[in-house]
Amino acid sequence: MKERLQELKQEALVKVKEATTLKELQDVRVAYLGKKGPITEVLRGMGKLSKEERPVIGELANTVRQDIASALDEKKESIEAEALEKQLAEETIDVSLPGRPAPVGGPHLLTSIVEEIEDLFIGMGFEVREGPEVETDYYNFEALNLPKGHPARDMQDSFYITEDILMRTHTSPVQARTMNAIDGSKSVKMICPGKVYRRDTDDATHSHQFTQIEGLYVDENVRMSDLKGVLDRFAKQMFGEDREIRLRPSFFPFTEPSVEMDISCKVCHGEGCHVCKKTGWIEILGAGMVHPRVLEMAGYDSQKYSGFAFGMGPERIAMLKYGVDDIRHFYTNDIRFLKQYHKA
Ligand code: DAH
Repeated sequence: MKERLQELKQEALVKVKEATTLKELQDVRVAYLGKKGPITEVLRGMGKLSKEERPVIGELANTVRQDIASALDEKKESIEAEALEKQLAEETIDVSLPGRPAPVGGPHLLTSIVEEIEDLFIGMGFEVREGPEVETDYYNFEALNLPKGHPARDMQDSFYITEDILMRTHTSPVQARTMNAIDGSKSVKMICPGKVYRRDTDDATHSHQFTQIEGLYVDENVRMSDLKGVLDRFAKQMFGEDREIRLRPSFFPFTEPSVEMDISCKVCHGEGCHVCKKTGWIEILGAGMVHPRVLEMAGYDSQKYSGFAFGMGPERIAMLKYGVDDIRHFYTNDIRFLKQYHKA
């Protein structure tokens, strides 16, 4: 029996050594120390032994069990330690590796320009207003001195939804809406940026949808020189202090007199070159003194109140400021174009 026990011990220790996983180790434990294992079997046969032999074999059996158990425990610890080391090695962060940059977006060029213009006018005391893009014929045309059948309606090809509702063709209806809302009793100083819609065929300088910024200042004693001062400040701040402005007579039904504003060409400063088509000037916006009839339709006393208005296209301003040659770049969202204007 002694030999059998020694044999079993050797066998078990070899298997423990060979085991490489916790599962294999557990199998060895069950096989040798389990209730159905060979050592238990040996112990069961002890009844046949003599009185003297019994304690000797019993003690040996216990030692063998303990030796196998501690070998198992030791091996278990070493397998676990190895596994932990492997895990730690795998999880090590190599701080010298280059990082994975998270792509950062930025405002669209048009958004930046609109915000820049807003800030500029807020600095001169203007409020920023909004109005609906789906507009009534009344606000889009009639309240601006463009009654049904007026030939000047043809200046703006429109998308009609019903006979009386259309996509606004300009931001000017917000003039009438703002004045109407305060019932002719107070002064107004506002700008309104927003989308407008025209039945135009898209090309390098036309788009069926584009942006405008409207401006309106109504108060007692507002004069043409006030308009000129505001526009001059706008042009210089937007395009550079060395730029001059020029007002040319023009026609809009909602202003009288009406003007178009040009700025001096940045390349030739008024001399005439290919950028300004030899004129020395570049057209920027339309403006004028609010027509007395428009003031009166909105509830103002045109004897007491006067005002100026202007309307500009931020796309055109961005094109001139940054040398963009095609209005469609603003809407096709080619990231290679847009990225150039992201501020760091
Ligand atoms: N609404 C005009 C257009 O879209 C632009 C304009 C011209 C607006 C003169 C004004 C203005 O407020 O006074 O063509």
